Amino acid sequence: MRQIVQNIFEVGAIDWDRRLFDELIPLPDGTSYNAYVIKGSEKTALIDTADPTKTDTFITNIIGAGIQKIDFVIANHAEQDHSGSIPDVLELYSEAKVITNEKCKQMLIDLMGIEENKFIVIEDGQELSLGDKTLKFIFTPWVHWPETMSTYLIEDKILFSCDFFGSHLATSDLFVKDKPRVYESAKRYYAEIMMPFRGPIVKNLEKIKDLDIEIIAPNHGQLYDEPKFIIDAYKKWISDDVENKVIVAYVSMHGSTKKMVEHLVNTLIEKGIGVQQFDLVTADVGKLAIGLVDAAGVVLASPTVLTGAHPVAAYAAFLVNALRPKIKYLAVIGSFGWGGRMVEQLKGIITNSKAEILEPVIVKGEPKSEDFQKLDNLAEEIAKRHKK
Ligand code: FEO
Repeated sequence: MRQIVQNIFEVGAIDWDRRLFDELIPLPDGTSYNAYVIKGSEKTALIDTADPTKTDTFITNIIGAGIQKIDFVIANHAEQDHSGSIPDVLELYSEAKVITNEKCKQMLIDLMGIEENKFIVIEDGQELSLGDKTLKFIFTPWVHWPETMSTYLIEDKILFSCDFFGSHLATSDLFVKDKPRVYESAKRYYAEIMMPFRGPIVKNLEKIKDLDIEIIAPNHGQLYDEPKFIIDAYKKWISDDVENKVIVAYVSMHGSTKKMVEHLVNTLIEKGIGVQQFDLVTADVGKLAIGLVDAAGVVLASPTVLTGAHPVAAYAAFLVNALRPKIKYLAVIGSFGWGGRMVEQLKGIITNSKAEILEPVIVKGEPKSEDFQKLDNLAEEIAKRHKK
């Protein structure tokens, strides 16, 4: 339990040891499931809870904060890392009501088995008085699910933003201290959870822009006592602007594709283009996702396996398709022994992207001088697009 300001506490749990989120994105620095208690002069509210694996820590923190009574459990989001301990809270504080929107209520009934009579449904913009403190509910859909909302504490100017603005970073710091480290963690988080929803995020940022916010208190990572730091980062990530950077993600079995990748990457670097190269067999998928946030383009490189793309390359293509980065172009390069449909397969997976598809470079066996020339041509085409 940690006090933020008088009568407002963080009571969630730090998960130092978690190494994977959604069974997908590596968490090199763990994460946290933040939850908040607000003691008003008349009522006490709990904002969100903790992942079911951390219920014991979370409940110990609430008890440690000397909370005798909880009147309202505000559920900003139904996903289990924040709703997973609600049933335990309702058992401990039987008089408590769950305050949320209609969509979230239905999800909590489905996911957590919470009884319908436990809910009070609120509307977008509705306020709830705790006596000397007032909560205002602001629907912020798609950060992360369609039901997700934020809660603004009017008197203390704190925005409890749930997943929005979160970062996967376990530290004992309550507030952001190490900005570069938090920036990287928040970008990793954005890349996996938020990047596919750039459009809704634009609307949500617009929705909160007139709020007088002194502290942003997300449900993962540290609190921001300089909200501009993370709001500006989000504005950059959701903008249409890209950096002078290309992601080259490859897999190679016998070395042909790797030779092509090395030649292309060296040529791109010589042309002044920033490159991030990932060996898909060993890469941190989170780093790849971070790179996609502001990359101008992607080159996927794969050998042909059993007449198609290598499954690891297909996985990367599937990930690019799911994360919907704002890339402007996409190219496929690779090698084959006797034939196959690798290029068609990879392009066929990335159907969500409006990126321009550049001329592929596919080589039979080991790359030869004419193949390296084709790679040089591809590098030139990429350079032209970066000049734009
Ligand atoms: Fe942190 Fe969408 O849950």
